[in-house]
Amino acid sequence: MNTRVLLARRPQGPITTDLFVFDQAPVPEPGPGDVLVRNIYLSCDPYLVGRIQSVFPLGEPVAVRAVGVIARSENPAWLEGTIVWGFLAWEEYTLVPGGRGLTAVDPTLGPISSAISVLGMPGLTAYVGTLELGQPKPGETFYVSSAAGAVGSLAGQLARLAGARVVGSAGSPAKCAHVIDKLGFDACFDHRAVSSVGEGLDQHCPEGVDVYFDNVGGETLDAVLARLNPHARIAVCGQISTYVGQGAGLPNIMAMLRQRATMTGFSIYDHTHKLPEFLPWMSRLLREGNVVYVEDVREGIDSVPDAFVGMLAGDNIGKRLVRVSDDPTTS
Ligand SMILES: NC(=O)c1ccc[n+]([C@@H]2O[C@H](COP(=O)([O-])OP(=O)(O)OC[C@H]3O[C@@H](n4cnc5c(N)ncnc54)[C@H](OP(=O)(O)O)[C@@H]3O)[C@@H](O)[C@H]2O)c1
Repeated sequence: MNTRVLLARRPQGPITTDLFVFDQAPVPEPGPGDVLVRNIYLSCDPYLVGRIQSVFPLGEPVAVRAVGVIARSENPAWLEGTIVWGFLAWEEYTLVPGGRGLTAVDPTLGPISSAISVLGMPGLTAYVGTLELGQPKPGETFYVSSAAGAVGSLAGQLARLAGARVVGSAGSPAKCAHVIDKLGFDACFDHRAVSSVGEGLDQHCPEGVDVYFDNVGGETLDAVLARLNPHARIAVCGQISTYVGQGAGLPNIMAMLRQRATMTGFSIYDHTHKLPEFLPWMSRLLREGNVVYVEDVREGIDSVPDAFVGMLAGDNIGKRLVRVSDDPTTS
């Protein structure tokens, strides 16, 4: 049987585990041209909130990026046993009509799970936001919120390699210790322990902010605006503090004008053509130990709702994944 996590109803407020129900269905039979994937790693991402609020159909498994192995193939282009990633779903097996949208994973580049973490969407997001939009320079101050997370943890390290002084914020003392001790940031403050984000910034960015990699929006973004240096750059990657409810506005937006600053929003969907140049580059940085990347892997399909809701609340260090079956490259 195929255990699936279905979206049962739309949220009226915060995302809670009771929005999802488990369901058992027969493992699908591939027809001519189809491919059946046994899922191994399922992704949990903040952007799913918006899809759950208004896009994903009710009664269906939640569609996410996943890494799996081809269990059965009725398509000559896809051999059984091939490791792939694609837009699959929160379920143990996904039928892929015509094998469309699958990408073979190159296990020589890194662990296969990294195809949906550092060598996939979160990694490319950090790369584009940091190096193309933020363009940190030696001596500048680079600040990233959600610094212990999937995207932020890499953004800060890329800025450090570019020579900037790197400051992060994260939601617990353990996360901040990880960011400084393991990831090599110059400083990190606990945004839940300071009286305001502005206080944390005043303490750790005394010379202002030259580049802000924004994962959070809201009060954090506004506090940064008040501390921008001339010609500062803001890469607007995410606004997680506003995904449920509404942001309170940006009273300090005038600083953009005063400081001749630039704020650029971006979506990773516009940059996927950069993966071929990004993958070998990132893989080498990891292999040579110049970048550290952590995955926070929960076990079993039963843990998916908790893993997702927990990540939104901040219980992850690194990229939150759920392993739902054996990884043949590690077992
Ligand atoms: N533009 C794009 O194409 C793109 C692509 C990927 C991701 N994103 C965005 O990038 C951001 C980070 O995504 P991710 O996958 O790397 O997730 P993540 O940082 O691994 O996990 C989400 C984190 O958000 C933090 N958080 C939750 N609510 C918060 C709040 N009210 N204030 C401050 N922090 C809060 C929590 O960390 P703490 O406990 O440390 O606060 C939580 O661990 C998200 O906004 C996401 O939507 C954008």
